[in-house]
Amino acid sequence: MIQADTPIQLSATDPAYQGLGSFFDAYGYGRFIAAEFSKQFGHHSYQAVIIQKSDILGALLFRLTGAECEIIEIAVAPAYRRKNLARRMMDDCVKLATKAKAERLILEVADHNAPAKAFYQNYGFKPIGRRPRYYSDDAGGKIDAIIMELWLSKA
Ligand SMILES: CC(C)(COP(=O)(O)OP(=O)(O)OC[C@H]1O[C@@H](n2cnc3c(N)ncnc32)[C@H](O)[C@@H]1OP(=O)(O)O)[C@@H](O)C(=O)NCCC(=O)NCCS
Repeated sequence: MIQADTPIQLSATDPAYQGLGSFFDAYGYGRFIAAEFSKQFGHHSYQAVIIQKSDILGALLFRLTGAECEIIEIAVAPAYRRKNLARRMMDDCVKLATKAKAERLILEVADHNAPAKAFYQNYGFKPIGRRPRYYSDDAGGKIDAIIMELWLSKA
């Protein structure tokens, strides 16, 4: 059993929030460039839940937009995967979204990202659509995105 701290909520104005750019750049799905993180996600509508010891072990970035809570990214450092860190962060995100009166969580996941799809499905997200050729891989290939949702009343 790892001794990670409990999840911490961060707003875009918290100093620690800036560390998320490097974390997602290193361990996220590959859509993040650390140097551009503040410009893209420095807005007050974005928030994060992180789990850390001395370093960040896991992070979940989300945006509350009225009735929806959009999951922007979730990642766990490789050595800490399959230890329920992502589940614990998602639990906190659900609590925050429920408190903000959001009705559902929504996200996009690359069709070939089996670990992430398994995690979301296990958590209760359901696929509701597909965005063809939404992501590019390193070789310039195109990958579909699957849109998934979780209704909070059914969570
Ligand atoms: C997806 C990711 C965040 C999951 O984090 P995690 O902390 O390992 O997930 P958890 O331990 O909370 O998993 C909870 C459950 O989800 C499912 N799951 C998670 N990872 C899985 C995997 N690699 N294969 C199959 N099922 C998986 C399992 O049901 C798991 O429960 P179990 O371990 O008791 O079987 C992690 O693999 C990751 O950081 N991936 C790289 C970044 C990424 O692709 N992010 C998603 C962008 S859309």
